[in-house]
Amino acid sequence: MFITVKDLHKDFKLGKNSISILKGINLSIEQGEMVALLGPSGSGKSTFLNVLGGLVPPTSGEILIRDFRISDMTENELCLFRREHLGFIFQSYNLISTMTAIENVALALTFAGVKKDIRLKKAKEALEIVGLLDRMEHKPNELSGGQQQRVSIARALVNHPEIILADEPTGNLDSKTSADIMEMITKLNREDNQTFVIVTHDPEVSKYCTKVIHMCDGLIESWEDQR
Ligand SMILES: Nc1ncnc2c1ncn2[C@@H]1O[C@H](COP(=O)(O)OP(=O)(O)OP(=O)(O)O)[C@@H](O)[C@H]1O
Ligand SMILES: [Mg+2]
Repeated sequence: MFITVKDLHKDFKLGKNSISILKGINLSIEQGEMVALLGPSGSGKSTFLNVLGGLVPPTSGEILIRDFRISDMTENELCLFRREHLGFIFQSYNLISTMTAIENVALALTFAGVKKDIRLKKAKEALEIVGLLDRMEHKPNELSGGQQQRVSIARALVNHPEIILADEPTGNLDSKTSADIMEMITKLNREDNQTFVIVTHDPEVSKYCTKVIHMCDGLIESWEDQR
């Protein structure tokens, strides 16, 4: 199995108390799947995605991606692993306001130690995939919400990661832009066999996915295979 999650728990400490947010998640995902993660606000979707991507350590349980045991890695190992294998798309875009679109995308490669001319070339290719070549010299505040989201997708794609974790990638977008972005993601998924895990509130988004997982109160309540 490509991704395996076993009895995953996450507690957060609040003062003297500890609250249990993920309460024993079990899940397997095959390579090339497109998984939608649905559930009410506060059910733990973002927390799960962050733990899965090694951004937040689990309290207990196991996460395996290929042969890598994410749940046992040190911060340094995780950092390298994320850089090589994962791409993140956040709802809030997280773009740097003083940098242009192409600089924002190329930045993801700076950390990977890629030379500047190659960084710019790859960033350009990624912006082309999301249809934003003509906006590459624009800064975030000179772009629409949908365009900023596409820049953040280009940034997630620029390394060609095997796995892309997306937290409400279409959350702030109108239905047309949202459909465009899902078409683009589906194309990448088919062409490059990239695996996507997408948190969403939108049933339209889940229609594009191979598997739909419903989370409730820190647990997986049910799931459907849509292949
Ligand atoms: N760092 C933290 N410290 C304490 N509690 C946290 C922390 N992060 C998240 N929580 C709590 O965990 C619960 C789940 O939060 P999470 O962000 O995972 O929900 P979600 O399913 O993504 O919700 P939404 O759909 O609103 O984005 C919430 O009750 C939240 O208050
Ligand atoms: Mg969330």
